Amino acid sequence: MNAATSPAHLPVMVDACLEFLAPHPGSWIIDGTFGAGGHSRALLEAGASVLAIDSDPQARAHASALGADIATPAAPPHGGQARETRREAGRFRFQAGNFRDMEQLARAAELSSVAGVLLDLGVSSMQLDEGERGFAFRHDGPLDMRMAHAGRNAADIVNEAPFEELAALLWRYGEERHSRRIARAIVEARDRAPIRTTGQLAEVVASAYPSGPRRTHPARRTFQALRIEVNDELGALQEGLEAAARVLAPEGRLVVISYHSLEDRIVKRFFKDSPRLTALTRKPLEASEAEIRANPRARAAKLRAAERSQEPSPA
Ligand SMILES: C[S@@+](CC[C@H](N)C(=O)[O-])C[C@H]1O[C@@H](n2cnc3c(N)ncnc32)[C@H](O)[C@@H]1O
Repeated sequence: MNAATSPAHLPVMVDACLEFLAPHPGSWIIDGTFGAGGHSRALLEAGASVLAIDSDPQARAHASALGADIATPAAPPHGGQARETRREAGRFRFQAGNFRDMEQLARAAELSSVAGVLLDLGVSSMQLDEGERGFAFRHDGPLDMRMAHAGRNAADIVNEAPFEELAALLWRYGEERHSRRIARAIVEARDRAPIRTTGQLAEVVASAYPSGPRRTHPARRTFQALRIEVNDELGALQEGLEAAARVLAPEGRLVVISYHSLEDRIVKRFFKDSPRLTALTRKPLEASEAEIRANPRARAAKLRAAERSQEPSPA
């Protein structure tokens, strides 16, 4: 199954996104986490122009199916010089890249004024459902977890990180109470043979977990921690928020949907501390019961919105 044929990802809290971003003809909105394009589609249908970004090159197939102008970097994107060759671009453009590089990507797309930025964090249903991407403990596959198919993967960390580093990682990014116990089990298992698959890792973690009733799979937090580390998700979020606050026009809106407390904490703090932004949500909005019934992924979603000040204070 490839990105274009895998079951579509259902976009979360679309109405709230539309309400805050107020898309209209002539306004440019950056969808920094395009995925399968559910949010972008709603923004386009409301008449806005969209620059869609995703670090996963497989998102390109969805963008292409939705009719995007696909930007082709003239040089490798790292280094910040995302010059592109593009045919005459319309009001829907897609660029593979990291939202932490949003400023360069917006400049390369020649956007003059940005009215809104949307970040719908985490992984898509397609990434979770494709076993070979290695994101899910429920699907056996190579232990990979790289959104951008580049750099160190999860197997490298699991098989090479020293015990203390592994335990700290599980504690910090997974908020895993049994971090040391799990790290010890991983080190013992890899001493016998390298851990290469999601199934093997899930089994090692389950075997280390104390028995007793539990609501979620014992490997859930370990997988979350590894995914965050492999993709530097929290570093990208911090830099993406800073870039969004710079790229927005006065009165432009930033909407962020997060799925766990580590992300939400960063967003909350940034909205409170940024001299360029005013928070529009005192508490995060959550999905309705009806939406959660239709899309269980929405259960964890927390949406915060902020507005760029009229007169930005000097940075
Ligand atoms: C929850 S999905 C977004 C789903 C999308 N809103 C939709 O309606 O289909 C998150 C997407 O963001 C991408 N992503 C995560 N972190 C990113 C980053 N730092 N830069 C760019 N894309 C990122 C992932 O590859 C994934 O496709």
